[in-house]
Amino acid sequence: MIDRHSILDERQAGTAPTREPVEQFSDRIAVIAAEHRPSRMPFFNRLAALPGSAARNPMLLGRIHLVYQSAMHATRAAVYYLPHLDSPAMRKRKLQIFVDDDGLPGGDTHHYQLTRAFRNIGAKCLLEDEEFGDPIQLCRHLDRETAHFVRLATSLYARSLGPWCVVEVMSDDWMRALASALAVHFPEILKEPYFADCFSQGVEERHAEESLAVTQMVLRGRPDLWAETLRDAEAMAKALDGVWKVLDKIVRTAAD
Ligand SMILES: [Fe+2]
Repeated sequence: MIDRHSILDERQAGTAPTREPVEQFSDRIAVIAAEHRPSRMPFFNRLAALPGSAARNPMLLGRIHLVYQSAMHATRAAVYYLPHLDSPAMRKRKLQIFVDDDGLPGGDTHHYQLTRAFRNIGAKCLLEDEEFGDPIQLCRHLDRETAHFVRLATSLYARSLGPWCVVEVMSDDWMRALASALAVHFPEILKEPYFADCFSQGVEERHAEESLAVTQMVLRGRPDLWAETLRDAEAMAKALDGVWKVLDKIVRTAAD
């Protein structure tokens, strides 16, 4: 495991990919992911600890849905623009990621699954599914922090593979934290395909491994991308912290 100081040293010294085998890329992403581990954020425990009547408020659930779905939407839309994966073999691997999100049996998608999970627990959703379109236009409906995450995902996913890696590496952690917090009030939510399929099929662990494997292949041929890839990963992880802070604020307000 690489410690945080070596990341900072490298930044200060400028990029020096030859100093470090590209195989250690996944360790560097793990350091960033650990530092920004979603489940450490107070939002999840605070949601679990809400009085039942407050947690069942349709507007509260609708506000949580808007922020969380917007952040997820931004990353799902941005994956289509990932760079450096243009060879036939890489396109096949990229396609599998699209299929996991948007090519589910019966025309289903993770987006629709998430909305159904929230509607089934009584959420009054503030936007219809197809209103999650152009990410920049979506920002008009969002607070500053969530809009920042959406804008950053849109620009950084298209520039380097680091943001995708770090989000995939962290996603199993927040999926489990969110499912556990909601299940305190809505035990049946664990059966919703959004969570159940993901956990039973190990989807996010697979995405984490795949994103790291693919990115290491790219970095082997393009070591000049090393510093930018890590820098963008850290910026994305930091912005995701902002999303959990907004969600915490929403829950705090509901608890008052
Ligand atoms: Fe994923």
